[in-house]
Amino acid sequence: MFLGIDLGTSSLKLVLIDGNEKIVAESSQELTVWRPKPLYSEQNPEDWWTGLNQAMFKLQGREQIQAIGLSGQMHGAVLLDASNHVLRPAILWNDGRSFEECKELEHRVPGFQHLIGTRVMPGFTAPKLLWVKRNEAQIFANIAKVLLPKDYLRMKMSGDFATDVSDASGTCWLDVGKRKWSEAMIIATDLSMRHLPKVYEGTEVTSELSRECKERWGIRNRVEIVAGGGDNAASAVGIGATQPGQAFLSLGTSGVYFVSSSEFRPNVPDGIHTFCHCLPGLWHQMSVHLSAAANLHWIKGVLGIDTFDTLYAMADKTSTKLLFLPYLSGIRTPYNDPYARGVFFGLNAGTTKEEMVRSILEGVAFDLADGQEAILKGASIQEVSVVGGGARSYLWGRILATILQQTLTYREHAELGGALGAARLARLSQEANQDPAQMLKPPKVLKIIEPAKDDYDKKRMLFKHLYRQLKPCFQEAL
Ligand code: XUL
Repeated sequence: MFLGIDLGTSSLKLVLIDGNEKIVAESSQELTVWRPKPLYSEQNPEDWWTGLNQAMFKLQGREQIQAIGLSGQMHGAVLLDASNHVLRPAILWNDGRSFEECKELEHRVPGFQHLIGTRVMPGFTAPKLLWVKRNEAQIFANIAKVLLPKDYLRMKMSGDFATDVSDASGTCWLDVGKRKWSEAMIIATDLSMRHLPKVYEGTEVTSELSRECKERWGIRNRVEIVAGGGDNAASAVGIGATQPGQAFLSLGTSGVYFVSSSEFRPNVPDGIHTFCHCLPGLWHQMSVHLSAAANLHWIKGVLGIDTFDTLYAMADKTSTKLLFLPYLSGIRTPYNDPYARGVFFGLNAGTTKEEMVRSILEGVAFDLADGQEAILKGASIQEVSVVGGGARSYLWGRILATILQQTLTYREHAELGGALGAARLARLSQEANQDPAQMLKPPKVLKIIEPAKDDYDKKRMLFKHLYRQLKPCFQEAL
């Protein structure tokens, strides 16, 4: 049996598969994000570890695990002292506090984009470290290691400091073309190589599960831990997007438009991230949207609705002129604007809650359409699948297909995202001499959604126009 662990932002998920990739068991544990100040987004790494233990105790069949793969929210900064104690809460991928430090870092390394494949943006790891140095000097002085979120769990399970190339790409410290740390970027952040974990390809074994964890979880045999991937690259493995041009939309807390490619070809001006895939010899480009299902999570709480399915059913009952800018945590692609915020435009005395929900589904689709436009400047797309929690709604799929004017493919287990990918990486690690990209077949197609005639044109123009008009005002709202 092979275990995939996906450390998401709103929950930690476990998926257990057998040698034929049949799903044997699943479990999950909710997680909470803290926002102590505007622009801040933090979690306590110890809560991830508690969450993993709770999810493990609920997982049937865990005593048969042979290998574990890891997937996780990218970019988070976990700071450890020399005794491996967490120095402060982890600063997450959707935290916008370090905009000034991004400019500083870009200034310090001319030509940085050819190394890291992207602009330096606030959610990324390196600028956060400069922010810590400026604002929490004592903590910075005590840093012995910086880990990414999933790699903190690896350290807790094995004592090892390791990461994989896809997740490492999101730090701004990787030479993405060469798939190894860039000393220039690390030094520019006032750190040194000793602060970083060792980098592996996603299918490589990094460590072994500790005796203590095996005893706690009731496992007798030897268990290898595989490098894994950032959640988007791991989702690509889960959905089988392993050939150049294969793409997917991820509808999780974040929204991502991801395309695999056979070479490192950065497309920096439009906020596209060009990172390593977690499979050897592959890269990918992605547009990243900081709030996709996060918007639904928010409205669900505000309206006191019990489930996401209820939200989708509400949206299905109506059409609306109401427009929603889905920027609850700012924007990476295409504008790189951490200060942008959510907006309802066109409310009137008769606006219903159904219309509000519908406008949110449409607003996320307009945002992803901006991402598609940026992606298409530097990549060609073949098939586009849908993954993540939002893949449960075909209504959202119809809205997306029409706004993107793109056929969307829904595959079995797509909602499992990175967790399934991580389990598949664990299985691959045990198959010597196989080309991973060839072995990973896309799961069975459940549904194909074709775009309808596009009557969203005017609304999409207004969506873009509103952002441009409001841009100078957003900082006032913080
Ligand atoms: C990718 C990104 C998000 C996180 C959240 O660049 O920031 O997709 O990985 O899971």
